[in-house]
Amino acid sequence: MQKTFWTESINFKNLKVPRFMSAPIDGFLDSPMRQLIRIYSPNELLFGQMRHVASVANAKITDEFNIQKIEHPICFQISANSTNFVEAAIEKILEQDFEMINLNSGCPARKIIDAGSGAALMANIPLLKELIKILVTKVNGKIPVTIKIRAGYNEKNGLDVAKISEDLGVDGIIIHPRLKSQGFTGELDFDIVRKIKQAIKIPVIFSGNIIDAQTVIKTYELTGVDGFMIGRAFYGEPWKIKQILCTLTNEPFEVSENEKLDIAIKHLKLNSKYYGLHHGFNAVKKHLPFYVREIHDAAKIRNSLVLAQSEQEIENILNNLKK
Ligand SMILES: Cc1cc2nc3c(=O)[nH]c(=O)nc-3n(C[C@H](O)[C@H](O)[C@H](O)COP(=O)(O)O)c2cc1C
Repeated sequence: MQKTFWTESINFKNLKVPRFMSAPIDGFLDSPMRQLIRIYSPNELLFGQMRHVASVANAKITDEFNIQKIEHPICFQISANSTNFVEAAIEKILEQDFEMINLNSGCPARKIIDAGSGAALMANIPLLKELIKILVTKVNGKIPVTIKIRAGYNEKNGLDVAKISEDLGVDGIIIHPRLKSQGFTGELDFDIVRKIKQAIKIPVIFSGNIIDAQTVIKTYELTGVDGFMIGRAFYGEPWKIKQILCTLTNEPFEVSENEKLDIAIKHLKLNSKYYGLHHGFNAVKKHLPFYVREIHDAAKIRNSLVLAQSEQEIENILNNLKK
C-alpha cells in the first residue's frame, strides 16, 4: 500500500499502531469477529469488550482473556464504579500480555450508569481522578493507559476530562462526541473534539459514524484528530478498515459476493469453535443478516437464516447463494 498520511502510525507512549482501530462493541466485536478483522487488517489495534473490574479480578478467567494470538495488538477495556478490585484486575490484565488498557467512561447503558460506571464517571470527577491515578500508578508505564469518553454526561465537560486525564498521565483519549442522553445516535459534536485536540498533546482518537473514506476525511478536516475508530461499520464487513485505507490511497479494493458468503461461513465456524456448537450457532445469527443485506431477496434469505435449526443448514443456505 502506498505510504501516505493515512497509512502512518501513531504512538501511544511506546506503542506504535496504525491510525485506524476497531472499537469496543460489546456483543458484536468479540473474539470471532476480531479474528475475521485480522484477515484484512494484520497490524491494527483491536479493542476487547468492556468488562467490569470485579469480574476481571474475581473470575478464574474472563471471556476477554480467551483470545487468539492473532488478535494482538489488543486493548483490554475495563469499567469500574469504585476503586474496589481495580488493582487486582490490572494485575490480571498485565499477566495476559495485552498491549493497552482502557478505562470506559462513555457507556450510556442504563444498568451501567445506574451502577455509577461508564458515562456516569464523567459526572463524578473525584472518582474518575482516583481511578485514573490507580491505573497509571499500578500499570507503571508497562503498557499505555487510555480512556474512552463522551462529549459529557449531561454537561459537556469532555474538554475538562481530557485535560485532567492528560495531566494524570493517561496516554491517549478516545472520544465518542455525544452526550449520554444521545446514546449512539444523533448529532456528533466535532467542535468539542477539535478543542480537545488543540488542548492536549497525547493522541486523540475519534469514535462515531466513521463508515467510509469520506467520513474519515470530513472528521479529520473538522477536528484534526490523530486516529479513527471503526465500530458498527464492521458489522458484516470485517474488511472495513482495509476498504477505507484502499480508498484513501487510491488502490482498488473489492469483496465479491462469494467472498462475503465465505466470510459469513467462516464466522459461523469461528463462533462454534469459540462458544461451543449450541451457543455459537445462536450467537452468530445476529451477524448473518449483515452479510446478505445487498443480495437480491435479502429479506427472504434473512428469514431463512434466522429460522435455520443447525450450523449445516446455515452453511447450505449460504453456499447455495454463491454464483
Ligand atoms: C451495541 C454497542 C455496544 C457497545 N459496547 C461498547 C463497549 O463495550 N465499550 C465502549 O467503550 N463502547 C462501546 N460502544 C460504543 C462504540 O465503541 C462506539 O463508540 C460507538 O458505537 C460509536 O462508533 P460507531 O458509530 O463507529 O459505531 C458500543 C456501541 C454499541 C452500538
